[in-house]
Amino acid sequence: MHHFAYRDGRLFAEDVDLTALADAVGTPFYVYSEATLRRHYRVFADAFTGADALVAYSVKANSNIAVLKVLQSEGAGADVVSGGELARALKAGIAPNRIVFSGVGKTRDEIAAAIDAGILQFNVESAPELHVIDAIAREKNKRAPIALRVNPDVAAGGHEKISTGKKEDKFGVSWNQARDLYREARKMAGIAVQGVDIHIGSQIDNLAPFEAAFQKVAALIGDLRADGCAIDTLDLGGGLGIPYGEGAIPPHPDDYAALIKRVTAPLNVKLIFEPGRMIAGNAGILLSRVVYAKEGEARRFLIIDAAMNDLVRPAMYDAYHDIWPVAENAGEKISYDIVGPVCESSDRFAKDRALAPLQEGDLVAIMSAGAYGAVQASQYNTRPLIPEVLVNGDQYAIIRRRPSFEEMTAHETAPDWLR
Ligand code: LLP
Repeated sequence: MHHFAYRDGRLFAEDVDLTALADAVGTPFYVYSEATLRRHYRVFADAFTGADALVAYSVKANSNIAVLKVLQSEGAGADVVSGGELARALKAGIAPNRIVFSGVGKTRDEIAAAIDAGILQFNVESAPELHVIDAIAREKNKRAPIALRVNPDVAAGGHEKISTGKKEDKFGVSWNQARDLYREARKMAGIAVQGVDIHIGSQIDNLAPFEAAFQKVAALIGDLRADGCAIDTLDLGGGLGIPYGEGAIPPHPDDYAALIKRVTAPLNVKLIFEPGRMIAGNAGILLSRVVYAKEGEARRFLIIDAAMNDLVRPAMYDAYHDIWPVAENAGEKISYDIVGPVCESSDRFAKDRALAPLQEGDLVAIMSAGAYGAVQASQYNTRPLIPEVLVNGDQYAIIRRRPSFEEMTAHETAPDWLR
């Protein structure tokens, strides 16, 4: 459930009229609902009431500092995958001992920064990475707390580009090498082995792959303990899907939690979760204005002022996003291709989408754009990164403003020989 709804035919974000907001901010821009962020966080966290669980919000989904502050105030930790995300999480006030660091390519600088910060856990994805963490920690006379991210070889995820738990994927330590690597890790003076980590994919719309992977991991914990290895934390990653308006309705967090409680109850571990999309996805929309309504020979186009550089999901993953008119319109629906101005055929948000007639100047909302939207934007075609706006009741704040052309090009210099 989210807080974007019509009132007398006009779309609101909480108590903010989006038509007025578009005039004030200038399209295109992202709008996030604070009440929705909080609600989604609580639904997830409350599903684990009674369990020893940390919800480490996956910062990559939406890393705006204001969004992180909202979640921090709810008690969220953070799952980060870069030095930049670590710095964001700390800047938002998330305590280091609630931060886990994932990712296959952590650099030496990033590892050092995370050790200095005193994070809760490194989710280690390979033997070479483990050796580097060990060496850096020893130089600092510290022991880095780690879990190995194990790859369970389970297929999951809405699209091949977001599946991560198959043995062909680059992620995690192979299942058959995990036990040996744990044995090695326990001998390292710079490493404190504390847990196991797994993450199988994203936009997962049924419980079966979770169950398969979590059962495997529970058995692994038994084996590791039999080897004399203490395992205190179990990080089950993220991946729970959200409704996008089409396709399967993903499981409710309560059902996901019931499965996890059943599988992990005998293990007596602290649980860590890394949900991203589930918290931020339906808490955001992308607001855009129709630039032209174009009658092609074969198709009818709505050319809007947002483009693939602002929200790449349809172009990159063939993702479906609902598109709502900001002013409701009783006209008979027509079929549109809704496209952006960028010079690529893949710059298309929807094909053959039935919408009530729209014309130049009308506003549309691309729904479910709060996760993997602004964070994946680029300045392709020298289009500025678009503003992000946070709504809270009847108030709003611009939490990232649109840069000027001078700001966009400030880091570029022509070499002397071109002066
Ligand atoms: N933990 C790890 C280690 C991850 O790699 C991810 C997502 C998450 C947690 C959060 O997963 P979530 O709960 O959001 O599903 N850009 C793609 C999704 C990429 C997901 C990458 N990893 C998209 O727009 O669909």
